[in-house]
Amino acid sequence: MDTKPDSQNDRRNTPARTLLKKGIQEAWCSCGYSSKQPFCDGSHRQTPFKPIKFTPDEDREVLLCMCKQTKNPPYCDGTHTSISPQV
Ligand code: FES
Repeated sequence: MDTKPDSQNDRRNTPARTLLKKGIQEAWCSCGYSSKQPFCDGSHRQTPFKPIKFTPDEDREVLLCMCKQTKNPPYCDGTHTSISPQV
């Protein structure tokens, strides 16, 4: 696997509203193969992608990217609105 899964079959094109906890390290899935979206489950191991690890500095609700095309990972930047579904 060297490409991300297509948008129609393996990932959703709407961001995941997620409550993050201060000081708890998270690993956002960048490959799109995780079954624990939006977080990494190790499925990237056969791909060139790696998870984005981050630790929130406060409790807060965020929108995490699910289309995996954001330019501000792990956060949604609205790119999903310009992605056409694959047919
Ligand atoms: S499963 Fe996607 S980055 Fe780990």
